Parts: sequence; C-alpha cells; structure tokens
Amino acid sequence: MIYMAVMGHGTVGSGVVEVIHTNKYQVEKNLGEQVCIKRILDLRDFDVPYADLFTKDFNDILEDDDISVVAEVMGGIHPAYEFTKSLLERGKSVCTSNKELVAAKGAELLQIAADHHVNYFFEASVGGGIPIIRPLHTCLAANRIEEIAGILNGTTNFILTKMIHDKMDFSDALKLAQELGYAERNPSADVDGHDACRKICILADLAYGKNVAPEAVHTEGISSISLRDVAYADAAGYSIKLIGRTKPEGEGLLCMVSPALLPKESPLAGINGVFNGILVRGNAIGDVMFYGQGAGKLATASAVVADMIDMAKSKDCVTSLSWVDDGKNYVVDYKTTRVAFYVRLQGKDLRNKIYRQFEKVTFIEHLREAEDEIAFITPVMVEKDFYARIAALSSHGVQLKNSIRVLDY
Ligand code: HSE
Repeated sequence: MIYMAVMGHGTVGSGVVEVIHTNKYQVEKNLGEQVCIKRILDLRDFDVPYADLFTKDFNDILEDDDISVVAEVMGGIHPAYEFTKSLLERGKSVCTSNKELVAAKGAELLQIAADHHVNYFFEASVGGGIPIIRPLHTCLAANRIEEIAGILNGTTNFILTKMIHDKMDFSDALKLAQELGYAERNPSADVDGHDACRKICILADLAYGKNVAPEAVHTEGISSISLRDVAYADAAGYSIKLIGRTKPEGEGLLCMVSPALLPKESPLAGINGVFNGILVRGNAIGDVMFYGQGAGKLATASAVVADMIDMAKSKDCVTSLSWVDDGKNYVVDYKTTRVAFYVRLQGKDLRNKIYRQFEKVTFIEHLREAEDEIAFITPVMVEKDFYARIAALSSHGVQLKNSIRVLDY
C-alpha cells in the first residue's frame, strides 16, 4: 500500500482526490500497488464524504512515516516552499502544480530532493494536463533545443479566443474564465503574463540547464489589446496570441512573454479556448507540438496524479531532472533582438510620416470606422531601432495606439 497526502484542496487539490477516487483501478494497475490518500491539508473546512482525512496541521503529514508521496497543490511560494523542503528532507517525494514555486526555487528543491534520495516532480506546473516536462527531459534528451515557443496560459488564450471569435468584451471573458476555474486567484498573474513567464522560465531551465529568474524575463500581458487590434490582425491574416518563448541568443538566452500576431496558418494560431500549445524545436527531431488543456481541475489533476504514481514507482530511483542556479543572469536584452511589429497609429498625414521613418511597411486594410487611424506591419528590425522610430513619429504629433510583435512559427 502506498500512502499519499495532498496539501491544498482548491481547484487542483480537489481534482487530485477526484481522479484518484474515480480512476482508482487504472492508478493501482499502473502502479502495481494499492494507494491510499491518508491526509489532506487545508485550513478551510469542507463538507465532503472524505472530511475525516482533513488536517490543519502540516506536522500530521511530515511526521507520518507511512506517507511517502505528497502532492503540493497549494500554490504561492510561502509556506509551500518551507513545507516542500521539510518533506524532501524527511525523505518523502513531492510533486506539484505550483509553477511560481518551481520557477523561483526549483533548482534548490531538486538539489535537496537528490541529496535525500527522493524525487521532486512538477509535470503539472507547465501546460496543465499536457505532458511536456517529461518529454523535454527524456524523449527529447538527444536534441539540442533550438527554440521553445508556446501558448502557456489557458485563461488569456480563453479571453483572446472569446474576443476574436465572439467579439466578447475583455472583462466578461475574464469573468467566465474565473467561473470555469481556469484563472489564478489573482487574475493579474494571468492577464499581465506572469503565469506564462513562470512557465517559460521552467522550460528554459530544463532545456538549457541554467536558472532563468522570472524577474529577468521581459513580460507583457494582454490588457492593452483591443477589439480594434483583433480586427486589424484578422484583416491581415493573423491571430493574436500570448506567446512565451526562449532560445539561445549569442552567449545567453532570449526569454520573454508578449502578445504576438501569428499567421493564421501557424499551428499555434489555431489553438483556441483554454487549450495550450507548446512548440519545441530540436536540432535532430525538428518541430514537435504539444497540445491539450492547459488549465482546469481534472486536466491539471491528471498530471499531478501521474507524478504521484511515478514517484511511488521510483522509490529507489532519483531522476536526473535538474538545472544549476549559479546566481548569473543569462537572459539577453530583448531590445537587441530582431523582430517585426504590427503598429496602430492615430494622427494626421500618417502615410507620409510613416514613410519617413520606415522605408517599407505593409499597410493593413482600413477599418471603416477609423478615419484618423492606420495600421501596418514593419519589416524585421532590431527592437531598439523600432522604438527610436516610434519616438520620432510621436514627436511629429502621431499617437501610438498599440504595437505588437509579429512572429512566424
Ligand atoms: N491560470 C493558469 C492558466 C492555470 O490559466 O493557464 C494553469 O496553470
């Protein structure tokens, strides 16, 4: 019998209990042993049939020698970090969906796990139910990873899809995502790109073996995107998506999160609703796409429970999952990299002014209701140069309404 514990009984935690209960036969068949959830840690009271399993005292899990496998699905850094550290030091394996903690403290927790001959797994921390951590670490281990680009946040993809397909207002779409249990407790983590940032950091950590701190990663969210931008992008043959991307750049790494116009025929452009898609480019395999539900109770619980099974199976086998935090920042200045921009401007005599700053642009068909507005796509250029040209236009009375990178995956 494998005794397990679950820390946190929110959306994901209750999903973990449900999946283990509903799929008990499959779980035990895959594991080759019976499983028992012995404890659930949460400070709240729940009226559920398994209410007798709840405790408010972390020590009930830490000091129970029967419990060898723990799922931390509390979220946030504190006290999840302290709890995880203590459990690993006590010789218990821990898995998590907590991307904030893995992005901030993953290198340290993996080292503590290795030192104590146990595992720290985090398949659910990126892409919800999509297998990506294990494939990146094992199935693609023979490759040099040339690039990773993905739609990593289900809530923002849900909102953008509602804006694009249903012309739904931003705040109504966010409210719906919250009701469906996709959003973070603080929706700013989704909308402002921080959640996607943590996830691309974890993928960069794994792919390149170096610690990428979320604070070092340029992060833009989707709140500046209007239905006007959506309409211009559509007219030009693009969809707007929030993209996290990383790749080697010179001696360092490009790692950033921002909205992007993607050609409609791009595989990432076709990913709608709460689904996530992650494109991994390896030098031997070429492009591989991972696709599935990136958020939600049971999808995320599916990945957590798979980790619990794997940890129970790997009792005497510590995986080589790790990266090094040497305190250095490997992230290059994104403004020195080259990219094309979609630009929307307002003002007078716009075409002449634009031609003076950009030798060659592609204008987008005019929207009928926007007389003093123009939208176009620039050639690929160094970002710094782009900002200098926009500043010059501003000094000639032109107002920048929005600019969004154009990517070609
Ligand atoms: N709020 C996250 C999202 C949950 O929308 O993707 C899954 O990490």
